Amino acid sequence: MSEQQKTRIYFTGQCEGLSDLREALNEHDDLEVVGWSDHVAQASGVLAGGHLDCIVHGTRLESFPATEVAAIREQTRSPIVIVASGNATGLLEDALEADVADVLLLPQLVENVVFTIRKAAHAKRGVPTVTRAQLGRVVTVFSPKGGTGKTVTASNLAAALAKQGRKTLLLDLDLQFGDAAIVMGLEPDKTIYDLVVAPGELDIEKLAGYTAKHPSGLDVLPAPLRPEDAELVTESKITRLLEVARECYETIIVDTSPFFHGPMLATLDRTDELLIICGLDVPTLKNVRLALQTLEMLSFPASRIKFVLNRANTKVGLSKREVEAALKVAVTAEVPSDRAVPVSVNRGTPAVLADPGSDFSKSMMNLAKAIVPAETKSKQSRKRLSLART
Ligand SMILES: Nc1ncnc2c1ncn2[C@@H]1O[C@H](COP(=O)(O)OP(=O)(O)OP(=O)(O)O)[C@@H](O)[C@H]1O
Ligand SMILES: [Mg+2]
Repeated sequence: MSEQQKTRIYFTGQCEGLSDLREALNEHDDLEVVGWSDHVAQASGVLAGGHLDCIVHGTRLESFPATEVAAIREQTRSPIVIVASGNATGLLEDALEADVADVLLLPQLVENVVFTIRKAAHAKRGVPTVTRAQLGRVVTVFSPKGGTGKTVTASNLAAALAKQGRKTLLLDLDLQFGDAAIVMGLEPDKTIYDLVVAPGELDIEKLAGYTAKHPSGLDVLPAPLRPEDAELVTESKITRLLEVARECYETIIVDTSPFFHGPMLATLDRTDELLIICGLDVPTLKNVRLALQTLEMLSFPASRIKFVLNRANTKVGLSKREVEAALKVAVTAEVPSDRAVPVSVNRGTPAVLADPGSDFSKSMMNLAKAIVPAETKSKQSRKRLSLART
């Protein structure tokens, strides 16, 4: 095999047997080992600019190394193969959902590892150009009533997707009083206001300069710090922002305010999935019914709407069946009232990260599964997106 056809690989992380594997792969005719680094952060230069065909990441963790995978994804869209030592049953489950090409448990025959790496690299190379259908999905979280759980749902869904290694943006379009950054424990120095008033056309690189990075791998574009700055975030700015975000994120989760104002209408135009948060109270149901009428007038497709019943387990004299009958809709997800939610809000860490075993977190992980496309489809589109970026 000629030098040009060799598969260029880079090693990150550590696990039992990784250095032996590296030596064996270094000798292999089909591969070129470009280098290695135990810590992803130290490899950022080569990951971003190395034209690598595959990243082989070693982990000793028994769970999915979400932080490291997210750090690699910050630098490159090249396929990632995870090699793990020890008991990695938990890792396997999460990895199946995540943005990695494959997982291997060491020890392995060298030829098996070479086959896996070349398969991952080949799948990336064979990908054609990006089309509209393969752009990221915009999931808008809305409720026509304040305090129903929009921000809690949006932030936990976004964190759940990022935890799976998916490239996700949490966009706070509650422009006057948004608190997505606070519930994520972030103190941003830049917001959507700074982005829209900055000179020059918006593109992927510019957007990246204004997002706050959460340790989970999630990117957050916060709401303006002052309510009076909201009016500069116009409909046309939001339309362009969503167009650009769809080119570089797999999923964009949009938190909103309880109004149909101009920015919300611009968002609806680009929304693939609208989650309407309901509660078990009559005023909220009244507003949801009015909102559904407005959405119909706007010709928003009913097939894109999903209903989430928050605090579904509270005994307040209204049942899920009665809500469904009143609204003539089916509820997609029931989210329990859970002490884990206010505790996590006050700590500034989403419950899916701080308390993944809680009933609330489990319902959010299930909802995350319901709103992302089927695994095969999303994997294909991710690979196509990766080609567009490398
Ligand atoms: N399932 C739940 N269990 C317990 N508490 C919850 C739950 N959902 C929301 N809450 C609490 O309710 C409060 C309001 O939630 P949240 O801020 O998400 O609502 P919102 O719809 O975004 O409100 P606003 O319209 O003001 O932006 C939060 O402090 C949160 O802790
Ligand atoms: Mg809110």
